Amino acid sequence: MKQLILSYFDASCPSRDSLHYYPALDSTNRKAKELALQGAPHGSLVIAGSQSQGRGRLGREFCSPEGNLYFSVILRPECDPTELMHLTCWAAVAACNAVEAVIGIRPRVKWINDLVHEGKKLGGILTELVFENGIAKYAIVGVGINCLHIPQPVADMATSLSAMTGKAVSPAPVSAALAKAMMDLDYRTMPEAYKQDCLTIGQRVKRMDTGDTGTALDVTDQGALVVDMDDGSRQTIASGEVSVRGLYGYI
Ligand code: BTN
Repeated sequence: MKQLILSYFDASCPSRDSLHYYPALDSTNRKAKELALQGAPHGSLVIAGSQSQGRGRLGREFCSPEGNLYFSVILRPECDPTELMHLTCWAAVAACNAVEAVIGIRPRVKWINDLVHEGKKLGGILTELVFENGIAKYAIVGVGINCLHIPQPVADMATSLSAMTGKAVSPAPVSAALAKAMMDLDYRTMPEAYKQDCLTIGQRVKRMDTGDTGTALDVTDQGALVVDMDDGSRQTIASGEVSVRGLYGYI
């Protein structure tokens, strides 16, 4: 499988030499942390055929059967990684670029990390900063995309590349396209395309922590969501989750 994935990589892609492939893992993000601790360089990739403990944002499980994409990259930025609060947005745009390159359809992004097509979740991103002695040392950015399968537990709210196209789309070409898309997109700044890709902007939203409702206005360069609340205040939401009316059952 590693050879198959590599066959899709450009000969010039530096990640070719630092690709770690595992048929099955608990979590590519966890493995990436372990490899980073052992000194794996910037740009190292960890790809798995399946995950037994795939992790999502906010402590959720990310259901990870064989046939989908599970991909993590180790970033060792020259700045303090806490200055890169837009990394999830960077990865989301790279994932949209990769999907578009492979199937010709561009998904959208539900702030901040969900890849969505026609109201259904296609995948997600989990960014984790790793601290050593209280100092943020590096970042692990994990991407999961449903390629061949829609995971059963979330079947009514999810889609896959194969469902989007009506053809079998395997994870190998998508992995290579994602590695290339990440290499081509500067991770040090918020990508301009995020605002166009983000379907949340302009929509009615509800904060899941407070239940407050409002209309999403913008996303800052740090990836925070700016919302004009119904009580007349303006909130800049840096973490947590908002529901978007019309998506995943929010009426
Ligand atoms: C989410 O939907 O909340 C984020 C899902 C992120 C899943 C990916 S799969 C590869 C990487 N390894 C993990 O354990 N999680 C991320």
